[in-house]
Amino acid sequence: MNKTDIRNKEDIRTMVYAFYGKVREDERLGYIFNDVANVDWGSHLPKMVEFWSKMLFQTEGYRGRPFRKHMPLPIKPADFSIWYGLFRETVDEYFEGEKAEFAKDLAGRIAASFSVRMDMAGKFNQD
Ligand code: HEM
Repeated sequence: MNKTDIRNKEDIRTMVYAFYGKVREDERLGYIFNDVANVDWGSHLPKMVEFWSKMLFQTEGYRGRPFRKHMPLPIKPADFSIWYGLFRETVDEYFEGEKAEFAKDLAGRIAASFSVRMDMAGKFNQD
């Protein structure tokens, strides 16, 4: 099948649901989402569709301060690499094009900034 670029919200839905399908099955990330945060997937997934729709198409559906939600979680630097690896893998599986490249690039930059901010807050020296 020929891949297209990420064009609209339906494509974002495809990306988000496939990505979190992998996240849930990953041992470390699955543990954080399901066992620590006890995430309600029924509301998390639509929220993440809105988040990525805002990031890629400047829509208005997401409001929030994502970093704050991550501060209390037991995330380690290596977990960001797993997260980013699965994100890139998912985008590449379904899409190709400028938006797809932009999405991967942005995800990597946000993941890196979360990691730096957690480190600066002293989170990674505690365990
Ligand atoms: C190891 C990496 C990560 C883990 C384990 C993780 C885990 C989580 C969890 C458990 C939540 C739900 C928190 C709650 O509702 O209390 C959440 C929310 C969220 N995450 Fe992550 N996350 C990671 C990386 C990222 C990255 C890199 C981004 C951005 C590209 C991101 C974007 C978001 C957003 C937008 C929310 C929703 C925040 C809100 O409720 O407004 N996450 N994450």
